[in-house]
Amino acid sequence: MKSIVILISGRGSNMEAIVHACQQEGWPARVAAVVSNKADASGLQFAAAQGIATAVVDHKAFDSREAFDAELARVVDTFSPDVVVLAGFMRILTEGFVRHFEGRMLNVHPSLLPAFPGLHTHQRAIEAGCKLAGATVHFVTPELDHGPIVAQAAVPVLKGDTPQALADRVLVQEHRLYPQAVRWLVEDRLTLANGVVIQRPDYADGVELLALAVAGILLLMLTRWTYVGLAAVVALSAGTVAARSP
Ligand code: GAR
Repeated sequence: MKSIVILISGRGSNMEAIVHACQQEGWPARVAAVVSNKADASGLQFAAAQGIATAVVDHKAFDSREAFDAELARVVDTFSPDVVVLAGFMRILTEGFVRHFEGRMLNVHPSLLPAFPGLHTHQRAIEAGCKLAGATVHFVTPELDHGPIVAQAAVPVLKGDTPQALADRVLVQEHRLYPQAVRWLVEDRLTLANGVVIQRPDYADGVELLALAVAGILLLMLTRWTYVGLAAVVALSAGTVAARSP
């Protein structure tokens, strides 16, 4: 059973979506802890109500980013995380912290990265006249809101959109996208090789393909329409792979 630690700074709606998905979809993982840099982060109440351990490391109590990050890493490490999830964790992280969790730490950002890293993404997207906005899940690297991209979802920017209206529409996609990406990581379906994301298809795809192949062979044996059978197998297999591609 893998251990997930989620870092939040506020509402924690992405954290909630991940906790629910983990429970309801039976991931081979549990959310071991939710850690915040703010004691009043409302997401902490949800986590506690779910029986999840919570911890606060207040960044204001430290003289430097390095000191804060060292204590944060120490607290996170007490939960032996296989996966660290930044879910609205609004602190710039030091290189030391990022390297410590490299390859097992994801972030969600409410823009189609590499466009609009940082704050006020929705307002900047509207002002730039973007026709599409969206959300990105990426592995965390020392540069803020950068790193190898795991998944993206796009939403249209509508005429008359306010930053809040656009943020609400993007957030719906974040709640779909982020749990899916975290699940891939806990299922060892995501790895980083020289800064490139390698994504392995679901094992279930292989089982289905095998079943299709067996069905095709039976078809070939039962019919003299060899080429029709062969074509059916190829078409069905290709269709399954296309439909299942993440
Ligand atoms: C989310 O929209 C997330 O993408 C964003 O903060 C919000 C947190 O909401 N994160 C960033 O901007 C990181 N650069 P939540 O607390 O309800 O999950």
